[in-house]
Amino acid sequence: SKNVAKDGNGELTIGGLTVSQIADEVGTAAYVLDEDDLRQRARDYASAFDGWGVYYAGKSLLCKAVARWVTEEGLGLDVCTGGELAVALAAGVDPARIGLHGNNKSVEEITRALEVGVGRIIVDSDDEITRLIELSEQLDKHPRLMVRVTTGVEAHTHEYISTAHEDQKFGFSIAGGQAAAALRRIHDHPRLQLVGIHSHIGSQIFDADGFEVATRRTLRLHAAFAEETGVELPELDLGGGFGIAYTSQDTPSTPQQLAEALNKIIAAECATLGVAVPHLSIEPGRSISGPSAFALYTVGTVKQVLLDGGASRLYVAVDGGMSDNIRTALYAAEYSATLASRRSDAGPALSRVVGKHCEGGDILVRDEFLPSDIRPGDLIAVPGAGAYSRSMASNYNHVPRPPMVSVRDGRISTLIRRESIDDLLALDVG
Ligand code: LLP
Repeated sequence: SKNVAKDGNGELTIGGLTVSQIADEVGTAAYVLDEDDLRQRARDYASAFDGWGVYYAGKSLLCKAVARWVTEEGLGLDVCTGGELAVALAAGVDPARIGLHGNNKSVEEITRALEVGVGRIIVDSDDEITRLIELSEQLDKHPRLMVRVTTGVEAHTHEYISTAHEDQKFGFSIAGGQAAAALRRIHDHPRLQLVGIHSHIGSQIFDADGFEVATRRTLRLHAAFAEETGVELPELDLGGGFGIAYTSQDTPSTPQQLAEALNKIIAAECATLGVAVPHLSIEPGRSISGPSAFALYTVGTVKQVLLDGGASRLYVAVDGGMSDNIRTALYAAEYSATLASRRSDAGPALSRVVGKHCEGGDILVRDEFLPSDIRPGDLIAVPGAGAYSRSMASNYNHVPRPPMVSVRDGRISTLIRRESIDDLLALDVG
């Protein structure tokens, strides 16, 4: 990220502090976030997508400070549970700037959203529409709704984070006609305000084609609805999913490039269809929070393992693992790692960074070349830990979750404190 560099001693620094200073103050494992960098990424989206609504996807990383920062930079907030909504409200985010997602929102979650008046609820099923009608009648509300659609696009990413092909749980199918029926049902109901269509095709996507196809298909649905009812819906949301670089092989687009490509397609498609360009919005999460933090670990053990053919690999075990970053184990995600606390002139050794959990799949970085003199006590940094790391952390093996700290102008602030064994024991009331 922006303020991260190596100093004269080969030590990694962030915002003027060395990683050793940070480790001394907050311990490891820890997530270390560059506040300026995250704010800058939020601003870059706001300015590249000028005139659009930009909703930061809180599922990638959410705490009160981050909610405040992104909204201060002009963004709205996408939440997908009552828990995320509670964080946003605790941070003082204006409910009108919040969108609520979820394929199985509970009565409590919908009730809370209606009571506080979230700006939009993205509807995902007929059962949810029924529930919304009942609850908005009880509470005398007129919620603003968007319809999540399935565009049938095959996004080129891991199956578990791909959401626009037909055979998955999210959305109303355009091809199957359910999307048009849901739009009609909401439109015809006097209590419900239909504001538009929503599409999210998946996550960590580099290829612009999927976004282009999804955009065309949603616009055609938008135009067909206008044709049928005489009403052009005011809004269209294209979701998030813009990929980031975890390794040097990844080549993400800039927000500017994405905005130019999308604006061009939308202008052309709307002209062809004879409809006005609706108010557009997106929901980037990873591409704002991801690159802004690295995970900092201390090496505990180093083991050399002989491989077939005479080669060998160093298993470098750190004081964290799949409980603070499940992505490698779950999606075969690729990460890089770097020796952060000192310079080394030792040659590169094929290495695997592993955690302290009781299973072989507990891998943080599958393949990396680390200096062959890597040893216990060294600090290791894993970049790209801002998104879907803390937010997906678990307590597997009763390992307390690491803190999220931010650094700005040489000062460390704790955003989320380190969990303690006592925190965990406090839940164990049997
Ligand atoms: N909008 C909707 C409706 C979403 O479902 C998501 C992500 C986003 C926006 C934000 O997507 P982003 O810009 O962050 O890619 N745990 C997985 C990612 C799951 C994403 C789920 N939805 C991972 O670690 O790769």
